[in-house]
Amino acid sequence: MKALILSGGTGTRLRPITHTSAKQLIPVANKPILFYAIEAIKEAGINDMGIIVGDTREEVKEAVGDGERWGINVTYIEQEAPLGLAHAVKISQDFLKDDSFVMFLGDNLIREGITSLVQEFEREKPAAQILLAQVEHPERFGVAELKDGKVVHLVEKPKNPPSNYALVGVYMFDSNIFTAVNNIKPSWRDELEITDAIQYLITTGYEVRPHIIEGWWKDTGRLEDLLEANRIILEDMESYCEGEVDEDSQLAGRVRIEKGAKIINSSIRGPAVIGENTIIENSYIGPFTAVYYDAKVSNSEIEHSIILEKSTISDIARIEESLVGKGVEITRSDRKPKAYRLMLGDNSNISLV
Ligand code: DAU
Repeated sequence: MKALILSGGTGTRLRPITHTSAKQLIPVANKPILFYAIEAIKEAGINDMGIIVGDTREEVKEAVGDGERWGINVTYIEQEAPLGLAHAVKISQDFLKDDSFVMFLGDNLIREGITSLVQEFEREKPAAQILLAQVEHPERFGVAELKDGKVVHLVEKPKNPPSNYALVGVYMFDSNIFTAVNNIKPSWRDELEITDAIQYLITTGYEVRPHIIEGWWKDTGRLEDLLEANRIILEDMESYCEGEVDEDSQLAGRVRIEKGAKIINSSIRGPAVIGENTIIENSYIGPFTAVYYDAKVSNSEIEHSIILEKSTISDIARIEESLVGKGVEITRSDRKPKAYRLMLGDNSNISLV
């Protein structure tokens, strides 16, 4: 079996971060989301992975490389534009050949991994196996209608969802999916939808096996979901300290301090992670916070947030529920007149008090 990981697309809901970066590389608990997918696939015993890349190809290639770090073979597949999930399958035929494969959306996180799901697919040999999860807002996803445990109908982001079973972004297919992707037309949003391709399989009599997952799953396409994923993964984390913590600082709960990080006169209340070479000084870092590498936080308080690499935060009373991009500087100034002085990227989102 092979794997196809989708790491193209645009990430409009996470702008401005995604104006300049791949959404799949945003770190959750200080690890790029995409790496969780790679690790879940590897754990299921699949070593041949094709990665779909688009505008952010250079960044993805730099982060993943040739896959040697995980002992896998990586083939990059260029998609000229985000023309849909089924389009991604279509252009991957040379790589996938006649093999069965698991398709994993690079912004999805699935806590229980995929090993038992891959085993189930290999044992039962349906044409497709889809994962479903009950959600509160099915209109944001592909939705399945089930009858007597069978999938009868699939619809992409319906205004009036027929059920609350959302399609999770992990699918397993045999080579019949190519007939399907070659027989569907672009949707109203001008994408070749994988939902339509699977519907084609159902309509033409192939077996599409649903598997309802009970464990935790997240599509990290929106800020709230990213913060929640960060919270849940941090909750599972083990503590360790490879950096330096001075005697005026306190660590409470599960806290991970990575290599070269320095904690000076500060309090870190876990679960939290402080990245490599990051400095925390005279500050409080509260639960569910991940500060990535080479950042600096001084005289500030941060809780329930993700701070990316090389950012500096100083003299800020409190930051909560925030995603701060790379190399961002947030500081206080005594300059007169007293005012907020901002340089924000397009589509930035700030709430001031
Ligand atoms: O997360 C689950 C949902 O994912 C499913 O419920 C939906 O049925 C499915 O269509 C998909 O919906 P999204 O709107 O969330 O898909 P998105 O456009 O965010 O793309 C998912 C991933 O695939 C993302 O990492 C970007 C990548 N992608 C997307 C497109 C459209 C590509 O690599 N190429 C593409 O052409």
